[in-house]
Amino acid sequence: MTEMRAHTKKLFIKTYGCQMNVYDSDRMSDALAPHGYETTLDMAQADLVLLNTCHIREKASEKVFSELGRLKELQGERRAMGGDMLIGVAGCVAQAEGEEIMRRQPLVDLVVGPQSYHRLPQMEARVRAGGTALDTDFPADDKFDTLRHRPKAARGPTAFLTVQEGCDKFCAFCVVPYTRGAEVSRPASRILEEARNLVERGVREITLLGQNVNAYHGAGEGGDWTLARLIWALNDIDGLERIRFTTSHPNDMGDDLIAAHGECEKLMPYLHLPVQSGSDKILKRMNRSHTAESYLRLIERIRAARPDILLSGDFIVGFPEETEADFQATMDLVEEVNYGYAYSFKYSTRPGTPAAERAQVEEDVKSERLQRLQSLITRQQRAIQDAMVGRTVGVLFEKPGRLEGQMMGKSDYLHAVHVANADVAVGDLARVEIIESGTNSLAGRLVRD
Ligand code: 5AD
Ligand code: SF4
Repeated sequence: MTEMRAHTKKLFIKTYGCQMNVYDSDRMSDALAPHGYETTLDMAQADLVLLNTCHIREKASEKVFSELGRLKELQGERRAMGGDMLIGVAGCVAQAEGEEIMRRQPLVDLVVGPQSYHRLPQMEARVRAGGTALDTDFPADDKFDTLRHRPKAARGPTAFLTVQEGCDKFCAFCVVPYTRGAEVSRPASRILEEARNLVERGVREITLLGQNVNAYHGAGEGGDWTLARLIWALNDIDGLERIRFTTSHPNDMGDDLIAAHGECEKLMPYLHLPVQSGSDKILKRMNRSHTAESYLRLIERIRAARPDILLSGDFIVGFPEETEADFQATMDLVEEVNYGYAYSFKYSTRPGTPAAERAQVEEDVKSERLQRLQSLITRQQRAIQDAMVGRTVGVLFEKPGRLEGQMMGKSDYLHAVHVANADVAVGDLARVEIIESGTNSLAGRLVRD
């Protein structure tokens, strides 16, 4: 149905979790726009509220139920004024606990899993007619075929683009293979078309998204394409200046992708490559199918191709049966790699995953290890950021800063950079000399060459 109506209803989407949810939330508002919905930033004004949820850890999951509690009040207020507020839960909690949500929270009108977003308009119509709607199927029809960007809406200079979804790796701690389903790669032609469309609307940097993005193997000219092949094709798009991708698995780092980091001009010197643990015993129990040593050799090869690459990672501490020696192996690996960014988490039991059944590490032990790991990572992060002072880097400007005349952007290495009295506009890519390193950002000045 593509009937166009004036924007008469307001949509508020609250997004939790990963960047793919950010991308999906945009697609949901695009799908609902032809049906009369415009987005609002004020939840209290919304005719439809969608919570796009995350199930990766227990804390993330619980947020949904506390937000629903708050929404109950807002919905009551709107009804008292003669209006209404429909409430929908989307994302990975919807996928994993859809029926349970509907049972626990009768105020929820609609539950939609990540593979069914193209069916949202029909679901909304059903709810508006007085029913409820639950769709957590893994349908055979491809949501990406239906979910298109609104043709001409202006965009900021950076955008996400989902190229691959789902995961077949089944790490023992992770819900992704269950909530996002089996690994599916989009055809290369669709991705290139979407990228050109974004560039026409002002985008200069694209981050390719996938839960296992470097396992990309979408259909393309001459057979399946690797992620590297796709990146080289994107490199040819005039007006696109920067390419990034996330999140990668060590086992899928192909030779062509490593080489692209050294050769492809628009591919930025930044790589998020989670290892999770530095202990081979724990890696095995996590079903990671790589060792600490194979990861370190891989890092060596990547650095040989691109010596200045900034590395980022994910770590889990307190996985079942992790001893102090196992944890120390993680600390040793971090020391050896030297990360520019890293995200570390306490292991959180996820229902239905293999590790949930195993003997758990005590909470205070997890907390203490997390603190040690995070202080090491913070030290490394800070030293790498401080070492940027005196260097000249590319910065893509994204928005005005807090101070008058100041502009903010991201460096090639993804550091936040601010420039005072900068004669640049949002979307400009400029050379900037870094002059100072602060807590969370760098200060720089424009270099005119
Ligand atoms: N507990 C803690 N952290 C987890 N992650 C995934 N599942 C869990 C879990 N059950 C972390 C991993 C992954 C990141 C996105 O979240 O480090 O790379
Ligand atoms: Fe989860 Fe990533 Fe492992 Fe897939 S590879 S199961 S998404 S942690």
